[in-house]
Order: sequence, then structure tokens, then C-alpha cells
Amino acid sequence: MAMAATVAFLTTVIALSIVAAAAQSAAPAATQYNNYTVGGAAGWMFSTATNASAANYPSWAANITFNLGDYLIFNTTTNETVIQTYNLTTYQSCSTDDAVDTDTFQYGGGDDDFNLPEVISVPLTQVGPNYFFSDAFGGIQCEQGLAFGIVVHYGLGLPPSLNQPPPPPYTAPPSPSVVLPPSTLQPTGGGFRACGERLVWFDPLLWIR
Ligand SMILES: *[C@@H]1O[C@H](CO)[C@@H](O)[C@H](O)[C@H]1NC(C)=O
Ligand SMILES: *[C@@H]1O[C@H](CO)[C@@H](O)[C@H](O)[C@H]1NC(C)=O
Ligand SMILES: *[C@@H]1O[C@H](CO)[C@@H](O)[C@H](O)[C@H]1NC(C)=O
Ligand SMILES: *[C@@H]1O[C@H](CO)[C@@H](O)[C@H](O)[C@H]1NC(C)=O
Ligand SMILES: *[C@@H]1O[C@H](CO)[C@@H](O)[C@H](O)[C@H]1NC(C)=O
Ligand SMILES: *[C@@H]1O[C@H](CO)[C@@H](O)[C@H](O)[C@H]1NC(C)=O
Repeated sequence: MAMAATVAFLTTVIALSIVAAAAQSAAPAATQYNNYTVGGAAGWMFSTATNASAANYPSWAANITFNLGDYLIFNTTTNETVIQTYNLTTYQSCSTDDAVDTDTFQYGGGDDDFNLPEVISVPLTQVGPNYFFSDAFGGIQCEQGLAFGIVVHYGLGLPPSLNQPPPPPYTAPPSPSVVLPPSTLQPTGGGFRACGERLVWFDPLLWIR
């Protein structure tokens, strides 16, 4: 069992490495981190009057090689939302109703005060498909073009500012056979006092008497 699990894990690691290597080799070499204003001068906008989005976002995105550490700058208003998801099903649904909060994130938007300008910066922190859409107006904005997908390449990797260190590896607690040194704490008030491995409540009044 353990062996099979290890082999399966290694296979996954190797497969992911190949995907990462392929993603890296397909993209031109990155020399710096870049910020891209989504839709260019048109911004991330939707017009209720024309029932249309301000730009063709998939075609805007198609011209750019996106890398880890780049930012998408959404020049937008409170009429639109910015949803980032790694989940194709969520993206295709134009809705966050059934979204899982581990793969879908909302940045700003969803305000009841309409038409207020907003600038939302979204860092690209995960290699592979990333999808963006607005779920405002019951999904109509998304259905009408306020949506696009990109593939994020490794590039230079995450900069330190975006690179959260993983939690430290688990270390087993000391076994019961390990003898702990006696406590050197001086009594200053009521509290727990270490006594070998046991904790003993002591009363400062008793201590004084
Ligand atoms: C990119 O945008 C981020 C977030 O707004 C900002 O911290 C960073 O300075 C910008 N980088 C450049 C090169 O403009
Ligand atoms: C954002 O949009 C506003 C209003 O549409 C415009 O004045 C501004 O130049 C835009 N900013 C960028 C970075 O495109
Ligand atoms: C923003 O939403 C409000 C409320 O639905 C609407 O009246 C307004 O026309 C919208 N703005 C644009 C630019 O479509
Ligand atoms: C994409 O790049 C090509 C060639 O550089 C250019 O002709 C085209 O207008 C660009 N498309 C967009 C949407 O920027
Ligand atoms: C993707 O999102 C859908 C809802 O949009 C959810 O049912 C599904 O479990 C998610 N997939 C994964 C792999 O989390
Ligand atoms: C806008 O387009 C949607 C289709 O995505 C349609 O259902 C809706 O009726 C349209 N609204 C207007 C005001 O034309």
C-alpha cells in the first residue's frame, strides 16, 4: 500500500514536472515581472446600455505571455466584479454559487454603489490555467464577454513578495521516555508550575505560609 502510494506520488510529481517544463519551454524567456492592464485602455467594463463588454478580452489576452509574479490590473468600476478561478466548471458557469473557496477568489466589486471607479490588482501565483470573469448582474456580464482564460507560465518564478513559505514540516513530539529538565521558573503568582513532566497547580498563599 505505502509503496503503491509512493509510486503514485512520484508519478504525479514527475508528470507535474514535465507539464511545468513544457509550459516553461513553450514561453519566451521572462526577464522581468510585468503588470498588464486588462483590456488595455478599454479597461474591465460593461455597459448596461449596450449590454456589451468594453473589449474582446480573450483576444486581448491571447497576445500576452503571462508569468508567475505578473499582475493583472483591472481598471474597472463597482458595476463589475473580478472573480479569479482555477476551476473550469466555475468559469463556464459564470457564477460563484457552487464555487469552492480553495480555487475561486473574489476581488472587490459587488458594491451597491454603482459606477464608482476601482482599480483591482491580481497577482498571478499559480502556473497553468487561470480564469477571470465578472459574476455581476446575475452572470449576464460574463455571458456577454466579461470573461477570459489565460495560461500562466513559470517565468522567473514567484518573487519573494508573493512567495509564502510552506508550513514547517511535521516533527514528532518527544517520546515519553525523554526526561525533561526540571523547571527553573520562580514562583511569582498563582499558576502552573512544572514538576518533572506533570503540571501542578499551586497557590501563592500556601507558598508564602
Ligand atoms: C505591479 O502592481 C503591483 C500591485 O499593484 C505593484 O505593487 C507593483 O509595484 C507593480 N509593478 C510595476 C512594475 O508596476
Ligand atoms: C483607467 O480608466 C480610467 C477611466 O476610464 C482612465 O482615465 C485611466 O487612464 C485608466 N487607467 C489605465 C491604467 O488604463
Ligand atoms: C451600472 O449599474 C447601474 C445599476 O444597474 C446602471 O444604472 C448603470 O447604467 C451601470 N453603468 C454602466 C456604465 O452601464
Ligand atoms: C496581437 O498582436 C498582433 C501582432 O503583434 C497584432 O496585430 C494584434 O493587433 C494584436 N491583438 C491585440 C488584441 O492586441
Ligand atoms: C469546481 O467547481 C465546481 C462548482 O463550480 C465544483 O462542483 C467542483 O467540485 C469544483 N472542482 C474541484 C476539482 O474542486
Ligand atoms: C443582455 O444579454 C443577455 C444574454 O447574455 C440577455 O439575456 C439579456 O436579455 C440582454 N439584455 C438586454 C437589456 O438586452
